[in-house]
Amino acid sequence: DTARLSIDPAFRIGPARRRLFGSFVEHMGRCVYGGVYEPGHATADGHGLRGDVLDLTRELGVSVVRYPGGNFVSGYRWEDGVGPVGDRPRRLDLAWKTIETNAFGLDEFMRWARAAGVEPMMAVNLGTRGVQEACDLLEYANHPGGTHFSDMRRKYGAEEPYDIRLWCLGNELDGPWQVGHKTADEYGRLAAETARAMKMIDPSVSLVACGSSNRGMPTFAAWEATVLSHTYEHVDYISAHTYYDPSDGDRPSILASAVDLDAFIQEVVATADHVAARKREKRRLMVSFDEWNVWYQQRLRADLDRRGWVEAPALIEDTFTATDAVVVGDLLITLLRHADRVGVACQAQLANVIAPIRTLNGGPAWRQSIFHPFALTARYARGTVLRTEPAGPSHDTNRYGEVSSVDTVAVHDEETGGLVVFAVNRGTTDIRLDIDLRGLPGLAGAAHLALDAGADPDAVNTADDPDRVVPRERERPSVDAGWSAVRLAPASWNLIRYH
Ligand code: AHR
Repeated sequence: DTARLSIDPAFRIGPARRRLFGSFVEHMGRCVYGGVYEPGHATADGHGLRGDVLDLTRELGVSVVRYPGGNFVSGYRWEDGVGPVGDRPRRLDLAWKTIETNAFGLDEFMRWARAAGVEPMMAVNLGTRGVQEACDLLEYANHPGGTHFSDMRRKYGAEEPYDIRLWCLGNELDGPWQVGHKTADEYGRLAAETARAMKMIDPSVSLVACGSSNRGMPTFAAWEATVLSHTYEHVDYISAHTYYDPSDGDRPSILASAVDLDAFIQEVVATADHVAARKREKRRLMVSFDEWNVWYQQRLRADLDRRGWVEAPALIEDTFTATDAVVVGDLLITLLRHADRVGVACQAQLANVIAPIRTLNGGPAWRQSIFHPFALTARYARGTVLRTEPAGPSHDTNRYGEVSSVDTVAVHDEETGGLVVFAVNRGTTDIRLDIDLRGLPGLAGAAHLALDAGADPDAVNTADDPDRVVPRERERPSVDAGWSAVRLAPASWNLIRYH
């Protein structure tokens, strides 16, 4: 089979924003305790931050990290997590049926974020709390000093304000599972008033209103429309979350998950723009896709029901396959393709909990299969995202009907002149991809890396065999009279570079 696409620098979508390569640290399972933080671990610093996880976080190329939840934030009292550790209360975390020790809190997270070189994205609790507590937290984080909470921060060791720019107004409040679940009108009003007050304290913050927990929610789109009818003028982003579940073993469908993500983004944008039109608003909102990943969801409920209240249990520590890595690569292609309207994206989560980085308590940390497409996309997607329209074969899937077998996006770095094409073959046959590069004369092939799930789709990386699933070098692409041909193996994610 053959597919073909044309690259033209005039087909600009938008900048390959660094914030598209975000991640998420929630107080859930062993993401914090035993993940980013483990005092006494051989690689931990004097503050308990695991050095091996910090190194992998930097290698992953993560830009922004959302914290502290997730469902956890909807019952969280941020004050519990600051001040002398010995004085911090132990609490019941209703979201994950877990005892929260509060040994790790805002100040520890900010210390970790600095060490990791990432931007913090903070969520406030709009489940069990409201305007006042959100303002108190913002005062603690961003106000220079001379007030109760800003002086508390200084007393606890952070003289300078944290200057956190990105704030989520709650989490998934459309979900009946959420502590403090609300109707769209209840949430919309609360989010609008919280946003207004937060911008009185610090007008420079960017605020994210909660969109739907996923596209399949019965209230999807109506929720966004109602929430934005209350909040549009006060916020900068509307959030979206999605997880793709491979549990049923339907490989053609899971490989085509990006088809759903693509439609989801278009629908959120259309809904936000509809509200803008009704309000005669010229300013357009961006989407904050602040939770996305592959997740074997069927295992969670049983995990929670089986046990009592414990500290930092192993929760949803999915082991990802080579096929899952191809899916993640394609989800990143899709997020890039919407770089004009998706301003933030956070893979959920960073460590242990459905994560690219896995650890053992007291033991090693390793890269899961999904680590690789993320790290390489974050590293090479620099410059301007260009629209590509691959014409080629299609195939049938149970979940999404007929889908295009090849999915692509290109990123052109105007500074270096380099070009990267990201391409996924979601089908079961070899495909030759003919790339028309005549719009960027003078390019030569630099490298072709492929993560190939065709031969061993269920291969995984483990603590004992951490490098079984890795991208491999393919033959360097040649360019002949402005055309380049590369082979896309079945079920593969590919990075093709020109310079
Ligand atoms: O990332 C795991 C959970 O998934 C988050 O806490 C929640 O927001 C979502 O439902």
